[in-house]
Parts: sequence; C-alpha cells; structure tokens
Amino acid sequence: MVMPLFSDGLTVHTQSHDYPIIIRAKSTIAEQIAPYISGRQVLIVSNDTVAPLYLQPLQEQLAKRFTVAVCILPDGEQYKNQASIDQIYDALMAQHFNRDVTLIALGGGVIGDMTGFAAASFMRGVNFIQIPTTLLSQVDSSVGGKTGINHRQGKNMIGAFWQPQMVLADMSTLQTLPARELSAGLAEVIKYALIMDSEFLTWLEQNLPAMMALDLAILGEAVKRCCEYKATVVAQDEREAGLRALLNFGHTFGHVIETHEGYGNWLHGEAVAAGMVQAAKLSQKMGWLSVDDVERIKHVLKLANLPTEPPPIAVDTALDLMGHDKKVKQGQIRLILLKSLGQAVLTDDFEASLLTEVLS
Ligand code: NAD
Ligand code: GLY
Repeated sequence: MVMPLFSDGLTVHTQSHDYPIIIRAKSTIAEQIAPYISGRQVLIVSNDTVAPLYLQPLQEQLAKRFTVAVCILPDGEQYKNQASIDQIYDALMAQHFNRDVTLIALGGGVIGDMTGFAAASFMRGVNFIQIPTTLLSQVDSSVGGKTGINHRQGKNMIGAFWQPQMVLADMSTLQTLPARELSAGLAEVIKYALIMDSEFLTWLEQNLPAMMALDLAILGEAVKRCCEYKATVVAQDEREAGLRALLNFGHTFGHVIETHEGYGNWLHGEAVAAGMVQAAKLSQKMGWLSVDDVERIKHVLKLANLPTEPPPIAVDTALDLMGHDKKVKQGQIRLILLKSLGQAVLTDDFEASLLTEVLS
C-alpha cells in the first residue's frame, strides 16, 4: 500500500525537459518509477551499503517488466572517481545495453552524481532516474542535474549537467541512515534557510529536534520545501550563470576542508556546516550580519549536531585550495556571503585581509 503523500505536482523545469520530484513516506519504489522508464533495459547502480538494504525488492519487481542488470560500487566519497565510472560503463557494455537503457541511481549523493555522469556520457547520453536514500541527496544532489566525479586536486571537477527523468524520495529509507549522515543532510537543509528564507530558519529552530528524532512527516515537509527552493533556482539558472551559485553557500570553505582532510574523513555536510559559519563570519566582518546572527547560525547547526569550526588548515593552503574553486573568475576568488539571514549574494568585493582573518 502506498503511504500518505507528501508532495504532488512538484516539477523541475529545465531546458532539456521537465521532471517530477515525488516524495513518499514509504512506497513500492518500482511502481513509482516504472512509468518513467522508456525502454526495456535498466541498470541499477548502487553501493555495497545501500544495495543489501533496498536493492532486492526493486530489482525483483522491475525484472517482471524490464531486462535488469546491477552495478554495485564500493561505498565512499574516495570512490567517486573515473574507476567507478568505468565499472558502470563495463556493466553496460557487458549487457550490450544501448541508448534505450535507463540508469537508476539507488543511494546517496555519491551514487547519484556518478550514475548521472555515466548516464550523461554513455553513448553520448541516456536516461537516468534518481532514488536518493540520504537526506542530503533528497534535498539537494538528486535535483538539478549536476553530475560528476572528483579529481585528486578538487571535488566535483569533472562532470556534466544532465537532468534525471524523475526523482523519488522515499522517506522511509532514512530510517537506516546513520545519525551522522542525517546531520550532514541537515546542513544542506539549514543552508536553504540561510540563503533563501529566514522564516524557514525559524521553522527549523522549532522542528530540528523532531527531525533528529526521525519524524518522517516533519522530514518530508522539510524535503518538500528544500526541493521547492531548489527547483525554483534551477528553473531560472540551470547552468549556474549566477543565481544557482548561491546554493554553494559555505561550499567554497567546505571544499577546502574536504580536500585538505581527504575525501570521506569530513562528511560533505559537516564541511559545509563549518564552511557556512566561516562565510557568516566574513559576512559579519563586512557589516552585513550581526554577531547575534552568527551565533544564531551556530546554534541551529548545533541543534543538528553539526560542527561549527573547521579543522586547523594553514591560511596559504586554504587560499591555494580555494583557487581551484569553480566560482573563481579571472583569478579572483568569489564567495557566497549573507547580506542578511535569508538573503545571499555572490561577490568578489571583500578585503583579502578579512578573508585571511576568517581563515586563520
Ligand atoms: P553518500 O552518498 O556518501 O552517502 C552517505 C553514506 O550513507 C554512505 O556510506 C552511503 O552508503 C550511506 N547510505 C546512503 N543511504 C543510506 C540509507 N538509506 N541507509 C543507510 N546508509 C545509507 O553521501 P551524501 O551525503 O548522500 O552525498 C554527498 C555527495 O553528494 C558528495 O559527493 C557531494 O559532492 C555530492 N553533492 C552533489 C550535489 C549536486 O548538486 N549534484 C549537491 C550536494 C552534494
Ligand atoms: N548543490 C548545488 C547545486 O546543485 O547547484
């Protein structure tokens, strides 16, 4: 039986095609996604943590209607690389799958980003579907078509914009998610509030304890709101000419942490949390946020059990790593800062000395 509906009619509008985000408390996943599979061939991509939890019923049900193959990758951000993409290509080639194939990403953001990139590049582009099973991937990475892998010197350096045919967020999958991963996802939820909606920040302050206690109705409401924010941004700026960059609030600082500490040691969401505080401190030094605002941000992150300080990183090293950021333009580091709570701006108009102060 399909459990109560969280969201109907949530559509992402993009240049290539429009697609739905379906959010369910608990669903028969295969039933929900089957209408969005156009050919007869399906490759499910997952990893060795998620597959034992959710693969079997999906595979069995789809196999009644489609030719289904499976590619299980090793779990971890450190495997978000070309070798894993090659494993996906190998599985597709072994099956003699062609342009009719639909790839299905069953997992978190790492699996979603890699499956999307393989779909974007196999035979110059085939369909794919996102089944995000982490909070982070439900509120962010599964929506909007950013796909890709890491390079040794920088995160997500190689990739493509490639939109899925649909996104299915089954909230019940969060019941098996480790608490640390739930917190990491909450960092991206809090990000939306800080850049787009101060009223949502108040809502989070009230509801984060219930979300931490895995109240799926409240979590579903948060996923719905975040997907609405993201769909609005993506519809206006799919290729990140400007507005979409705001979704990277805290990420330039966070990527420094992730790259410096080694992929997978600090979770993406944890690094983004500490990075958002650094960006907020710079915003405060610019005179845009008050000290109380920065404290409020730290408080809400602490409610989600997230770090508010980065690990020690030498300023020169941090600046060097920031130089690889995709937002760098004509050699100038550009950052997302907060004009106020709920209002973000992309700017290179800050004193280098203020950035140095924040980094030290
Ligand atoms: P992840 O994919 O590594 O998943 C986190 C961990 O949880 C993994 O060990 C995974 O196997 C496990 N897991 C997943 N679902 C589970 C479940 N239901 N039960 C138990 N365990 C489960 O990490 P993530 O936080 O989902 O995604 C982070 C990645 O997303 C990063 O690579 C980041 O760069 C990327 N990202 C991409 C975008 C985008 O727009 N494409 C946006 C944000 C982040
Ligand atoms: N996660 C940032 C983006 O999708 O643009």
